[in-house]
Amino acid sequence: MKIAVVGRGNVGGGLADRWERAGHDVTRIGKEGGDVSDAEVVLVAVPGDAVADALDSVQGLDGKTVIDATNLFGIEPPAGFRSNAEFVKSKTNGPTVKSFNLNFARLYDQVEGQSPKPGNIWSGDEEAREVAEQLIRDAGYEPLNGGPLENAGPQEQFLKLMIGISNDIGPCFYRFSSPD
Ligand SMILES: NC(=O)c1ccc[n+]([C@@H]2O[C@H](COP(=O)([O-])OP(=O)(O)OC[C@H]3O[C@@H](n4cnc5c(N)ncnc54)[C@H](OP(=O)(O)O)[C@@H]3O)[C@@H](O)[C@H]2O)c1
Repeated sequence: MKIAVVGRGNVGGGLADRWERAGHDVTRIGKEGGDVSDAEVVLVAVPGDAVADALDSVQGLDGKTVIDATNLFGIEPPAGFRSNAEFVKSKTNGPTVKSFNLNFARLYDQVEGQSPKPGNIWSGDEEAREVAEQLIRDAGYEPLNGGPLENAGPQEQFLKLMIGISNDIGPCFYRFSSPD
């Protein structure tokens, strides 16, 4: 798959490494911006309050499938939006998913070897399910669908619980399973 990562730090760079190892073709974009016209899917992994700036410096976003991995630490989503993910969709008008915001980048290199696989919650548009779930699996996680894009807000707010839990036990994986 042709992937563009906007933000090439812990999350964008870390996932780019993993996806390249899985055979994907990844373009990495930082503050200088770039063109994503060729990409089949775009990951947004910039600071939560820099999304508008970051997307303004990227060309070719119209209609793209986007995975938004951003978090908002103690700040609100852009005015008029319930989540950063819905703001992103307003800029692209394409299928949009919230994912990877509840998975610690510093544990990416420990994902392999975990059994069962760590979970990765995503919420978003059904049109993006196939792409999102493949990229979640290719990063080593088990996809857990949390519902439509309107659930991206609660997913972003869940960060508070993840921070609470990691304050207690340290950076961690999570899993959900049915009884069987
Ligand atoms: N770290 C984690 O464990 C983790 C986990 C889940 C979600 N998140 C979220 O994922 C996002 C990225 O986190 P990170 O830890 O990867 O951050 P990071 O290591 O600081 O990387 C941030 C990246 O964003 C780019 N950037 C910053 N401001 C920008 C702007 N105005 N326009 C375009 N690009 C800009 C930087 O570009 P340059 O390379 O040019 O400097 C850099 O590549 C954040 O929203 C964070 O809350 C983090």
